[in-house]
Amino acid sequence: MDRDWYKDAVFYEVSVRAYADGNDDGIGDLAGLTSKLDYLQALGIDAVWMLPIFPSPLRDDGYDVSDYRNIHHDYGTLDDFRNLVDEAHERGLRVLVELVPNHTSDQHPWFQASRDPDHPDHARYRDWYVWSDSDERYADARIIFIDYEPSNWTYDELRGQYYWHRFFHHQPDLNFDNPEVQREMMRIVQFWLDAGADALRIDAPPYLYEREGTNCENLPETHAYLKRLRALVDAYAPGTMLLSEANQWPEDVRPYFGDGDEMHMNFHFPLMPRVFMALAKADRTPIEWIINRTPQLPPVCQWGTFLRNHDELTLEMVTAEEREFMWDFYAPEPRMRLNLGIRRRLAPLLKNDQARIRCANSILLTFVGSPFIYYGDEIGMGDDIWLEDRNGVRTPMQWNDRVNAGFSSEEVPPERLYLPVIDDEDYGFAVVNVARQEGDPASLLNWMKAALYIRRQHPAFGRGALVLLEPADSSILAYIRSHGTETLLVVNNLAAEERDVTLDLGRYEGYELRDLFTGAMLDRPASDSWAMSLPGYGYRWLALTR
Ligand code: NOJ
Ligand code: CA
Repeated sequence: MDRDWYKDAVFYEVSVRAYADGNDDGIGDLAGLTSKLDYLQALGIDAVWMLPIFPSPLRDDGYDVSDYRNIHHDYGTLDDFRNLVDEAHERGLRVLVELVPNHTSDQHPWFQASRDPDHPDHARYRDWYVWSDSDERYADARIIFIDYEPSNWTYDELRGQYYWHRFFHHQPDLNFDNPEVQREMMRIVQFWLDAGADALRIDAPPYLYEREGTNCENLPETHAYLKRLRALVDAYAPGTMLLSEANQWPEDVRPYFGDGDEMHMNFHFPLMPRVFMALAKADRTPIEWIINRTPQLPPVCQWGTFLRNHDELTLEMVTAEEREFMWDFYAPEPRMRLNLGIRRRLAPLLKNDQARIRCANSILLTFVGSPFIYYGDEIGMGDDIWLEDRNGVRTPMQWNDRVNAGFSSEEVPPERLYLPVIDDEDYGFAVVNVARQEGDPASLLNWMKAALYIRRQHPAFGRGALVLLEPADSSILAYIRSHGTETLLVVNNLAAEERDVTLDLGRYEGYELRDLFTGAMLDRPASDSWAMSLPGYGYRWLALTR
């Protein structure tokens, strides 16, 4: 087994609840997801990341865990999980489990015992959470869910103290200063490795520890613990990948990779909004700026890149001015905004313009790192901004144009679905669905398949160095990806209009260029003023060969 398989992988993020309903109760489940593995294999992805699947009151869609060693009854059983893993492995797919170490649900038995002095287990769990007589401590820590929470402290009547929470008030933070908590989370990791997980996404790692006088993010204690977690995983199940969700600036994310001894992967959060900015302004400068600020990684490490995910499109890693620009451009309707972000899906953000959507995906699939595709974005699904919180981007997957969109059987009354299927004119399931796009050679889905197939043939996309070219026209984003003997050139036109492009390919003087999509050789070899023209939002993926 390749220890660094994640460097060549394309990941697919899926909400089990939203994907396919295997038992007709209106809620997606593990059996449903398992039945769609052939689809995922045909799409050409390598690994499936499931949003939280543990028992939970679902007040934060499962990020509020009430039992770390089981499966939510809506989704199935541990046997269903093992079956999913077996079926995935048979198809060469890997499975990522979401681990939420920072906090639990307030319904977790640990918290119930911790808060209640009369609870028989109180003595054992008393210090498992962060309690305080005052709500003034750690005043320098920002509030993350600013639309919902006024403070990081909430008073508990039973215990007569405040408890600390970086997210919702019903999600108390675990106390990682307590060695019992440290050990228990390690045992939970072992449990999921035993159950067959190939990788773990570590939710919200920056917040594990708190220290007075700091912003309580990225503390040395946190890194020390994550390194211990990595050592455990390497010893216990070598080849397991750890992906961390540190939504931070590159210089603060870099320590999460350690010397190659902490997390294998980290999402590149600041890159994401800059892809949208570059497209909005037809100007590559924001992307250039962040790439120049992106540090080199230890050899075993890899960035995870994405355009959209299950959360709001976060605007934490931009300046205040850039945030205003993004909100004005991409979220003109107030309801589209949430916390410091935008609750919309990829296709509506890009006005359902197929050329623009392909251009965004061209960048995602050819730029640094390993790409993550959010379920439904491969067919250009829409959203429903009128649903609560981030539910608008978590609606049922649209498989076909029948009642319930093929997500649930036609017999299930639509009002029983966990959330309504998107049913509007532009993005409704009658228009946007897998079956229809499978039958249409020009569909986004078939384009994605082709693009993923090409990516798979060229390791330089996952492993290669990235060198940005500097054509005079700033609406052109062009770069070389090179690895071993392979050299690739990608050119994207960020503008809506056709552009003539001139690139300095002097370093490759005389090399021939082959179009990776068509296989055709171009008639002009590389030179120091190599010219071509690209339609609005056009892209070319080319191999340079001697
Ligand atoms: C990050 C997750 O992506 C988000 O969905 C969740 O609400 C927070 N962590 C809190 O668990
Ligand atoms: Ca179900």
